Amino acid sequence: MGTFDGAVDPTDADQAGEWNGADGEYWATYHQEYERLLGVFDDTLVEAGAVSADDRCLDVGCGTGATTRALAARAVDGSVLGVDLSWPMLSIARAATRALRNVDLVQADAQVYAFDPASFDVAVSRMAACSSATRSRRSATSAGRSAPADGSPSRCGRRLRPTWLVTARRSS
Ligand SMILES: C[S@@+](CC[C@H](N)C(=O)[O-])C[C@H]1O[C@@H](n2cnc3c(N)ncnc32)[C@H](O)[C@@H]1O
Repeated sequence: MGTFDGAVDPTDADQAGEWNGADGEYWATYHQEYERLLGVFDDTLVEAGAVSADDRCLDVGCGTGATTRALAARAVDGSVLGVDLSWPMLSIARAATRALRNVDLVQADAQVYAFDPASFDVAVSRMAACSSATRSRRSATSAGRSAPADGSPSRCGRRLRPTWLVTARRSS
């Protein structure tokens, strides 16, 4: 099992433990199945953000990096930063993005990571904003508009109207 020794918001302590423990190991083991099931949402997220070639993108709770790769394929002259708490998930993401020069990955709690709000044009989150990362999405695109890509209520319900699929784009 992996560990995470970085700064964690107290409300994310459970998430850090679970995603660096059995949950993260399970998802990482079956990542191909999860990516097949959830890949259907990536076009929606990318289209909702109107991601263009030179955009600087943020993938909050990037997991094994499937959405990160979808963003990188569109932002070919831009960049994608994937942030995730989970070492097992990021290990898969790192292997899968090794050849992509426009991708960086960082293990961090997205709620407390020192994002520079001016450094992103688009932020997305596929099935991670429901756990905690809504605030970081908002700060990363401050002054931007956020648009739930599905509009559905979340059963996680811990934070500001969290949703399963989120795209936020900086207002021009
Ligand atoms: C259900 S998985 C989804 C992963 C990926 N977005 C996908 O759709 O395949 C949720 C992910 O959110 C991450 N996560 C949860 N809370 C987080 C936080 N506060 N900061 C960063 N990552 C977080 C977990 O580690 C996990 O990888």
